[in-house]
Amino acid sequence: MANIFAKKPLAQLLGEANSSGHGALKRTLGAGNLVALGVGAIIGAGLFVRTANAAAQASGPGVTLAFILAAFGCVFAGLCYAEFAAMIPIAGSAYTYAYTTMGEFVAWTIGWALIMEYALGAATVSIAWSEYLNKLLEVFHTSIPYHLTHSPFEHALVNGVDTRGLINLPALFIIVMLSLLLVKGTQESAMFNAVIVVLKTAIVVIFIAVGWQFINPENHTPYLIPADAVVKNAAGEVVRTYEGWNKHGWGGILGGAGIVFFAFIGFDAVSTAAQEAKNPKRDMPIGILGSLALCTVLYILFGHVLTGVANWREFADPAIGGEASVAYAIKAHMTGYGWLATAVTVGILLGFTSVILVMLMGQSRVFFSMAKDGLMPRAFSELHPKFNTPYKSNLMLMVFVGLFAAFVPGSVAGDLTSFGTLLAFVLVSIGVWVMRKSDPAQHRPFRSPLSSPSFPLVPFMGAGVCLALIVGLDIKTLVLAIGWMLLGFIVYFIYGKRNSKLQQGIVVVPTEMEEQAFIEPDPKNA
Ligand code: ALA
Repeated sequence: MANIFAKKPLAQLLGEANSSGHGALKRTLGAGNLVALGVGAIIGAGLFVRTANAAAQASGPGVTLAFILAAFGCVFAGLCYAEFAAMIPIAGSAYTYAYTTMGEFVAWTIGWALIMEYALGAATVSIAWSEYLNKLLEVFHTSIPYHLTHSPFEHALVNGVDTRGLINLPALFIIVMLSLLLVKGTQESAMFNAVIVVLKTAIVVIFIAVGWQFINPENHTPYLIPADAVVKNAAGEVVRTYEGWNKHGWGGILGGAGIVFFAFIGFDAVSTAAQEAKNPKRDMPIGILGSLALCTVLYILFGHVLTGVANWREFADPAIGGEASVAYAIKAHMTGYGWLATAVTVGILLGFTSVILVMLMGQSRVFFSMAKDGLMPRAFSELHPKFNTPYKSNLMLMVFVGLFAAFVPGSVAGDLTSFGTLLAFVLVSIGVWVMRKSDPAQHRPFRSPLSSPSFPLVPFMGAGVCLALIVGLDIKTLVLAIGWMLLGFIVYFIYGKRNSKLQQGIVVVPTEMEEQAFIEPDPKNA
């Protein structure tokens, strides 16, 4: 009888790490490098698209407070991630950590949730890419029609006519192109990464600095959305109401935090560099807390300026400022700065492209680990004979993510991404506490503070805040996400459990060639 809570022995995991050379990563990263790594990994569609979404759907100008709340969840979960990452020095993720602490079923659950984080995250950013592409085309007095840039579940007044979406072609296009690039194999150059990081940060800082003088204080009053607020479109039809508990007032701050949480996804990249930190004990908290603090400050200022320059109601109507909102706000309200809208749009498109690439790569890595463990079909871990890339996995993802990008609204994909990541954070936080209890003697190069087995404050707060953010998500998102998780459980019991290598007593050790298929970008240069 198979035991679904069987744990992969830590010694076996560490053996895998050593056999693949992961145990011997050089300790070269200082606290400053780690902060830069974090900032570079996280600024993206979350800030440039979902800030306006959160303001329009739940938080109003209070989106600044939503950022603070989301950051809290990340801080605590991030410290837990770091403890695992330092203890289990293997190219992996929450999935790998869970396999050794909470057993196969929980590992599967996290792996399945991570599909939402990475695959749907890539779809979300590709949809954002599509929005900004159209803004760029407007500069050349052309654009792709509404029905070819939106899912069939969206509609808006276009030139006074209620128009429904059909397919999001640009989003599908960027997914296909980047998937094919991944099949061929890509190592984003360190130079390219560095340029993107500087560019993204510069856009944020310039927008804050220039936009500040265009803030209209009236847009910030009231600061929280009133329960009886109503937004109407140009034809006088109601576009949005705010009665739901998580759509107005303080409940709306919690609801908005779940939406903008997306903007922090990726900071766990810092945690996974724990093994390369010169002094993990000191540098990891600085790296995680520092990059989160820096981004939180930038995000708060950005949210303050965005909702001050334009009124949050303008972001509630897709036909006005609901899409490519930053470019919209500049064009509509910052007279004389049309050039900035264009520059920002180009920068954002480039920045999004690299985020999509990283997310698609992250997903194929998770599939790879799961397939090696027998929990997913072998095809996901098969490498291309010439390019040495997990090409079948990339091509299947191209179809799966492409379908989402083409036919699902960005807000739905984005909220599901937040759900998947938050669930992984909750489970990782609990895992740290479980591991402290079950294996207290294990060497931990980094220990999250205030987390003894009898007083697990950090894991408790990590799990608690992230759980609260999940509860604050839209009910439709929760229904879809729970449906997705249930589907995952069915797949596990029909396929994963029967084929699990661990259940069959087979030790999995990746070959050198397989390891090379996922050459980590050099975090120093990211
Ligand atoms: N944090 C990343 C973004 O906002 C995922 O695009």
